[in-house]
Parts: sequence; structure tokens; C-alpha cells
Amino acid sequence: MKDVDARISGGLKRESFAASWSGRIEHMDTVVSTQEEAKLLAERGVPEGTAVMAEEQTGGRGRMGRKWHSPHGKGIWISLVLRPGLPLALTPQLTLLAGVAVCTAIREVTGVDAGIKWPNDLLAGGRKICGILLESSLREGGLHYCIAGIGIAANLTEEDYPEELRGIGTSLLIEGGGIPVDRMRLAEAVLEELEYWYTLYNREGFQPVKERWEAMSVTLGRQVSVNTPQGRSEATAVGLSDHGELLLRKASGEIASVLSGEIEMI
Ligand code: BTN
Repeated sequence: MKDVDARISGGLKRESFAASWSGRIEHMDTVVSTQEEAKLLAERGVPEGTAVMAEEQTGGRGRMGRKWHSPHGKGIWISLVLRPGLPLALTPQLTLLAGVAVCTAIREVTGVDAGIKWPNDLLAGGRKICGILLESSLREGGLHYCIAGIGIAANLTEEDYPEELRGIGTSLLIEGGGIPVDRMRLAEAVLEELEYWYTLYNREGFQPVKERWEAMSVTLGRQVSVNTPQGRSEATAVGLSDHGELLLRKASGEIASVLSGEIEMI
């Protein structure tokens, strides 16, 4: 946390959404999905940085219409309202930014060696520890607000996972040798890191996020199978483009890019 404190006193804090989040975290017990709660608040005009955190989600959702397992008191299930002045086409950069922020917070607070799998899954020990879901709302053809949903498996045991997720999901408790995570401390660090990276992004653009993402990636240099709306193919992941697309080198040597989709590491 020292690093974070130094940056705060260094003046990067409380410029944009920062001023709104302390004291504006809605902490709820059981909700269907924090995404829905944050959307209701966003529609009511709350300032960006407003966060909703819940102990349990009965209808937590993930990317590609999947369910997100969110048992009571075991994880960090949080959604944050953002109001970026961006064209819709650039919002994938925010998902990469969120991955960087959360990965940094996890490493700092827990010491677990988490890494980012493109686009924004966090893995530890080869299994998923955190998922990020960015949902955008449009108004009059432009971006109205985004909801950044973050699910961190903090204190789940192997038994807390349903059969179909065993071997795929893991938690900070499991990867950290059985030491329980202070969820509030981690949630706070996540918000601080988001604030830091979002402020930096607004000031300097995507480049710092891109560099940090590449340094934290477990995808780059790996042979991957890519699943996009255009079909499935295999290639080597080599970097991010200046817009945030994943750059892939095909067997022919040709470089291709993908903006959204899913990969499997081979
Ligand atoms: C994924 O990896 O598929 C994304 C998972 C995102 C889960 C979080 S938990 C908080 C927020 N509320 C939800 O319903 N989903 C996101």
C-alpha cells in the first residue's frame, strides 16, 4: 500500500471520480447483481466513481451471458459507475485498464502472483481468480455511462465452487496458502488503483495502461486459440496495439489484431 499512498500524496488522487467514491460506496447484503444496482444509480445521475458492493449476488453475471458464482461473504462483488468522455469504440481500453488496476491491487495486498489473460481475466496458478465485465449505456448515439463490474474470488474454498467450476476457478485464499483476505482492505485498494489508472488515462491516454498491461500479461508470448465472431484460429499473442487490440502473429508471419473475443492458451 505504500506505493499507493505515495502516488496519492503525489497528486494523482481526487481529480476526476476520486472525490466521489469515498463515502459513496453502497454496501448491500444480497442483490441480484451489483451491475443492475449500479445502473439504477447511474440512471439517477450519481457522479462517476459511485460504487456498489454486495456480500452476495443471486444473479451475478459474467461475459458472454455466463453466470457469475457469487456466494455470501466470500468475494468482492463490486460495480463502479464511470462517465468517460470517450467514443464507444475506445471502451475496450477501459476493460484493460480495470485489469491492470485490479491485478496491481491484488499483488500489493495479498502477494498472490496474479497475471492478466486477455482481455481481462485475472489468473493465479493457471486458474481464474477474478473477472471483469464492462457494460456501456448509450444515449443519443453517444456513450452515456459505463458500469465496470469486478468479481474477485477472495475467500472461497474448493468446496465453495460448484462442480463445473472446480479446476477452472480458484481464490486468493487457495492461492495464498490458506490465509484469509481482508476483503474491505482489498476493495479499498482496488478502488484506489482504479482511481489512479483512470486519472492517468484521462491525462496521458492509453500508453501507460498498455505498457503495464503488457508487463502483467500471462498471454503474451503464448500460442493461443482465438474465438471471435469470425471463427476460431491459432496464433502467437505478441502485444497490444495502440488502441488496445490484441496483436497476433500467424504462422505465416502476418500480424492480425482482435478487439473482442475469447482466447485459450495452448
Ligand atoms: C467474467 O469474467 O465473465 C466477468 C465477471 C464479472 C463479475 C462481476 S461481480 C460484480 C459485477 N456484478 C455482476 O453481476 N457481474 C460483475
